[in-house]
Amino acid sequence: MNILGISAFYHDSAACLVRDGDIVAAAQEERFTRKKHDHGFPRRAAAYCLSEAAIRAEDLDFVAFYDKPLLKFDRILETYIAYAPRGYELFLKGLPLWLHEKLYTPRELDRGLDGLYRGRYVFIRHHESHAASAFFPSPFERAAILTLDGVGEWSTGTIGLGERNHIELLKELRFPHSLGLLYSAFTYFCGFKVNSGEYKLMGLAPYGEPRYRDVILEKLIDLKADGSFRMDMSYFAYCHADVMTSEKFARLFGGPPRAREAPLTEREMDLAASIQAVTEEILLRAARHAHKVTSAENLVLAGGVALNCVANGRIAREGPFKRVWIQPAAGDAGGALGAALFVWYQLLDEPRKALEAGDYQKGSLLGPGFEEKTLLSFLDSVGASYRGFESEDELAGEVAELLAAEQVVGHVEGRMEFGPRALGSRSILGDARSPKMQSVMNLKIKFRESFRPFAPAVLREDADSYFEMHPSEESPYMMLVAPLRSDRRLPASENGAVGLDKLREPRSVVPAITHVDYSARVQTVDRERNPRFHRILARFREKTGCPVLINTSFNVRGEPIVCTPEDAYRCFMATNIDALVLGRFLLMKEDQPSAGRAGSEDHLARFELD
Ligand SMILES: [Fe+2]
Repeated sequence: MNILGISAFYHDSAACLVRDGDIVAAAQEERFTRKKHDHGFPRRAAAYCLSEAAIRAEDLDFVAFYDKPLLKFDRILETYIAYAPRGYELFLKGLPLWLHEKLYTPRELDRGLDGLYRGRYVFIRHHESHAASAFFPSPFERAAILTLDGVGEWSTGTIGLGERNHIELLKELRFPHSLGLLYSAFTYFCGFKVNSGEYKLMGLAPYGEPRYRDVILEKLIDLKADGSFRMDMSYFAYCHADVMTSEKFARLFGGPPRAREAPLTEREMDLAASIQAVTEEILLRAARHAHKVTSAENLVLAGGVALNCVANGRIAREGPFKRVWIQPAAGDAGGALGAALFVWYQLLDEPRKALEAGDYQKGSLLGPGFEEKTLLSFLDSVGASYRGFESEDELAGEVAELLAAEQVVGHVEGRMEFGPRALGSRSILGDARSPKMQSVMNLKIKFRESFRPFAPAVLREDADSYFEMHPSEESPYMMLVAPLRSDRRLPASENGAVGLDKLREPRSVVPAITHVDYSARVQTVDRERNPRFHRILARFREKTGCPVLINTSFNVRGEPIVCTPEDAYRCFMATNIDALVLGRFLLMKEDQPSAGRAGSEDHLARFELD
């Protein structure tokens, strides 16, 4: 039984293939089209999923779509009527897309699959897709489910219960009241791009003070004990305009929104810290309520808000649950996976299989991989100079050696990750002990804002000796933030640095991955899920005594994470990455022919700023 899951036409399109309950393949369209957050029909991702399963579209038994377009349109119409005539322009702007595309989703799906699929389309409610993506791949027999995002049809957040092969949503928060949209409103107001700059806002928060926390709780939202809330919509404009916040919002926070790319001021840092604090408070209350309603021991999370790994870390440490599992593709891309799994378990009532590895997500390594002969013919086609390694251990040793000498290494091996995090298969690696590495990586490799933190990858077995984590706790998908242990910190200097100046203070023995508040978004690397990456870390520890590396996604600012050897080579040649690993081949920058070398400006110009 082959089920294709699709998410499309809004943000982050993706496809996923589930065969007899097994996740065979999943990938985001942006990785193929090289257009970040591509929202078109995921034609190439779907083609990839079919090829991975060695089938054609006519062999599919079901195609599942991640939301219900008609119900969504109902929400848009009702919102328009409620705000009329204020939202007329916004409504008119969105209407053609609905009339030509979204209201005829089956036709669009037919087109996308070249008319080859003859079976049924199944439309799953948006939050049921998120909930299914959170529960079914998780290791739990029974768990509370929490989904939170901007908005689907009407729901913006749900509490549910998963038991064996069945999920049930018990409570919902409805549009326009939405934690995702509240967070995005601050993202917009602070001058970042909505639906992608939320990470930046979260990264900015530790530089500020939560000075506006109480104002938000008093004026913007009415927060209840169970984590539900109502927003005072006079501060927000997203129901009727093209912007997120109203003039009243600007008056409350001392003037107009920050312009994109303008210098960051203390106000934005304090706003970031404040909305982060409120978000954590809401999530903790919702988690406690979910525990009360379900009396489940474990919790699973999905929806765009579940990408807030700082809040996730607090739920894991302070929440009432024994264990927490978070869908790595928590945003809308993961809806494709959830929709397909929903058909298999919920609609077809198939039982869940016995658990073999840590969960059913397979390390989230669900995208394309490349055979050796493909790598070789590519390398030869560009005249690359490379060295092949016969033994994994030798290769890992060589990479560890380079890293210990403060070289930056691009690492492409095995199947590509599904979800926004690179977990070692499409990663750039660096020495976390190096005091200059954060700025080198930000400014010379990724060409992005200097304040942005980097995440550590740590050997699973050593995680609790560097981070405040329980020895049994893991974070294989880099979905939660944990504090650095106090014995790894350096005493704070007395110069009282504020704002971005905090960045220049050495804070720990692994400064490149320690944020200004000593937090770190941890990936625990285990041998089962990531054998190669585990080996590199182990060899690095042998050489240096340190089991921690920087792991950042293999791309530059605005670029989707690299997928193919071509993408990786192009990015490698255009940036200051020193070495590139493709499978078992190692390329040194200085040995490469200058003919293929593009300037970083040309490369960056291919992508829109995020
Ligand atoms: Fe969503």
